[in-house]
Amino acid sequence: MGKIKETLYSTSNGEFLVGNSEKLLKGKLYEKLKGKVDLIITSPPFPLNQKKKYGNLKGDEYYNWFINLAPLYSDLLSEEGSIVIEIGNAWEPERPVQSLLHLKSLLGFVENSDLRLIQEFICYNPSRLPSPAQWVTVNRIRTVDSYTHVWWMAKSDFPKADNSKVLRPYSKSMRSLLKRQSFNAGKRPSAHTISEKGFLTDHGGSIAHNFFEMDPIDGDREVRLPHSVLSLSNTNSNDFFMKKCREMNYTPHPARMHKGLVNFFINFLTDENDLVLDPFGGSNTTGYCAEINNRKWVAFELDGSYAEQSILRFQNPVDNVKLKVY
Ligand SMILES: C[S@@+](CC[C@H](N)C(=O)[O-])C[C@H]1O[C@@H](n2cnc3c(N)ncnc32)[C@H](O)[C@@H]1O
Repeated sequence: MGKIKETLYSTSNGEFLVGNSEKLLKGKLYEKLKGKVDLIITSPPFPLNQKKKYGNLKGDEYYNWFINLAPLYSDLLSEEGSIVIEIGNAWEPERPVQSLLHLKSLLGFVENSDLRLIQEFICYNPSRLPSPAQWVTVNRIRTVDSYTHVWWMAKSDFPKADNSKVLRPYSKSMRSLLKRQSFNAGKRPSAHTISEKGFLTDHGGSIAHNFFEMDPIDGDREVRLPHSVLSLSNTNSNDFFMKKCREMNYTPHPARMHKGLVNFFINFLTDENDLVLDPFGGSNTTGYCAEINNRKWVAFELDGSYAEQSILRFQNPVDNVKLKVY
């Protein structure tokens, strides 16, 4: 894609633009990208009750803004493309009651377009700080809100997807079963019938689940995340980006997506050279994961300082990315 004036930097696979993605995606870029995006993966501003630094909307205003993104994103998607949105829970102002806004937003999003929910994933973060703090740590009447929703949507019932590209390591018992080459076949209490040979072939790993535990809470327990998640997981405080932020005295983006999560969906839902887009790029986790997985990418960010810090991601000598900053 040729350089446009909002481009802050580019690599041979992608570019990062500073500005309001809704506005930019309705201009010339719309014509360039229409029908060509294979995966939109993003974590939009969450519906919050207090405005965060980057100006999240509230209530009806949020709902209307969010659902109006759906027709635009659907137009950008290729016929087999997918949209993956990560979103957290919201709480009613000054009440120990969960808000329904994110659920209404999901319904509105699919109803306002030709999209459908393909599958929901849950992303559990055991290291999440206690929140909502008032009800969890002061009054002690609620538990820690510790997961985000990940909604996978598409225009057709059969978006491109291949779960054999995102296998989990086999469990210990499965590994020994594969060695032993025997198990008790037959009917299970769940009514599943297990055939004589059903489990005797080594497929390189087991099929991923729609639940991710992003950091192992217990080092001794086997947390079987897909290889693609593990290889890029954030055990974030020590990755190159965070070290660089500390060195440069930058405050890292407060709501970064987990690299493992982005990597999982890129591998699961796209092939090499497919185009990945993130309209709410923040520190550009998406662009970085797309880059190192050899996908094309475009990402946007409204806030110039987050955009600037995202440059650091691409400076890891190990990745050998050719970066051009304008
Ligand atoms: C939840 S954060 C995304 C973080 C990102 N996924 C990462 O890993 O760093 C949402 C981002 O969207 C940006 N934003 C909000 N409205 C925007 C808009 N209209 N266009 C582009 N970016 C926007 C905010 O500044 C914020 O950085």
